[in-house]
Amino acid sequence: MPSAHITFDQTGDKIAGRIRKMRPSAVRSLFAAAVRPDIISLSGGMPDVSLLPEESIRDATRAAIEDERAVALQYGGTDGRLETRQVVCGLMRDLGVRCKPDEVMLTTGAQSALDLIAKTFIDPGDIVLAEGPTYLGALQAFSAYEPDVRCIPFDDEGMRMDLLEAELERIGKGNPRLKFCYVIPNFQNPGGVTMVPERRKRLLELSHEYGFMVVEDDPYGRLRYDGGHMIPLKALDARVVYLGTISKIFAPGLRTGWIVAPKDVLARINLAKQGTDLCGSSFDQIVVEHYFTDTPWERTLQRFLSVYRERRDAMLGALDEFFPPEARWTHPEGGLFVWVTLPDYVDTGSMLGAALDAGVTYVPGDSFYPDGVTGRNCMRINFSYETPENIVEAVRRLAKVIEERLELYRVFIAAGAIKAPEEAEASENATACANSDGSAPVDQSR
Ligand SMILES: Cc1ncc(COP(=O)(O)O)c(C=O)c1O
Repeated sequence: MPSAHITFDQTGDKIAGRIRKMRPSAVRSLFAAAVRPDIISLSGGMPDVSLLPEESIRDATRAAIEDERAVALQYGGTDGRLETRQVVCGLMRDLGVRCKPDEVMLTTGAQSALDLIAKTFIDPGDIVLAEGPTYLGALQAFSAYEPDVRCIPFDDEGMRMDLLEAELERIGKGNPRLKFCYVIPNFQNPGGVTMVPERRKRLLELSHEYGFMVVEDDPYGRLRYDGGHMIPLKALDARVVYLGTISKIFAPGLRTGWIVAPKDVLARINLAKQGTDLCGSSFDQIVVEHYFTDTPWERTLQRFLSVYRERRDAMLGALDEFFPPEARWTHPEGGLFVWVTLPDYVDTGSMLGAALDAGVTYVPGDSFYPDGVTGRNCMRINFSYETPENIVEAVRRLAKVIEERLELYRVFIAAGAIKAPEEAEASENATACANSDGSAPVDQSR
């Protein structure tokens, strides 16, 4: 006879300390809410794969199913399929980076590359430098290896080199604890800002002076809607460890990314990768290879660009129209995200419930900082996935929620319950999350 039984969490006390300390990704948690039909999601970073031509998918997949089935269904090498790495070399050449297939490793998306790099280079307590705010998936990947992540604020020209230098002076030259600087120079996630050429050059100079590696994460470099191409750090310095992915220019469902790095670095990462997955998906790699050789993928990319440009413009227009004057936001020339900064008395984490009730989601700003506190008055909003009409409606709903918060605080301030920020202070505080030292704010123009 079946008997009722109660299950206890019997492994709770067995969990490793590093996992205990890890925070779930706010984006992953919001995934469930985002599928509700009444919700317009500005929270994910999803490309609109409905823009991919069916024919291209069919042609690319046919090779894996028909012509190369035996290879596609088999284990492959740890570094990934040679022909696909050759295709990656071609994609890198377009960006101005010359590399050979033995300087390329295929990974399960750029996400697993982040994990492998952390696994290879970080001991507990090691110092990692990153922009602040930075990609939350990188923070998650790194956190398993327990580094001391130091965030360097950015402004609308990318990571602040004066603040980086100040941090490096505190760390000291040749400090063995200092491992690498992780940067997203193009259309940063979540900031949307791009690092200008002078700062790229300076970052590389500092990396030699202070002895740290540069990890350049570039999922958005080809998603440019205005302005000219920026030379990757990797094209300026062969020691840079470069991460690429097909996720935003093709499809994230085919989990394929890559690391371009000097051979000695890749040999170390290869060891780490063997224990992680033996090899990536041969099937995915074959599909990717054929997509970039047998289909008009550049024409498809142009379609992505024109659709995303229209959506970005819809978002920036709606922000101008509906958001309160106290709000500030970035004006990205590419990528998928706008970073919004509200007065520092607004907590976007606690505001999320009201936003969900109003039928809109975003990602609270504190998710993009390792301390989980900084950035509480900020939010990341995405423009790649929803139609322009939905984006405008979502921004209108969000503006209403924010306005209600501001009203509440205005009442508190009028009653003397909290202090009214001075006009000057207000603009400084409004960007405190990006400028913890009170440095120049992120793109203040509206
Ligand atoms: C900056 C950055 N790096 C890495 C990734 C992960 O990309 P992939 O889908 O290739 O794992 C993302 C995904 O959004 C990202 O924004």
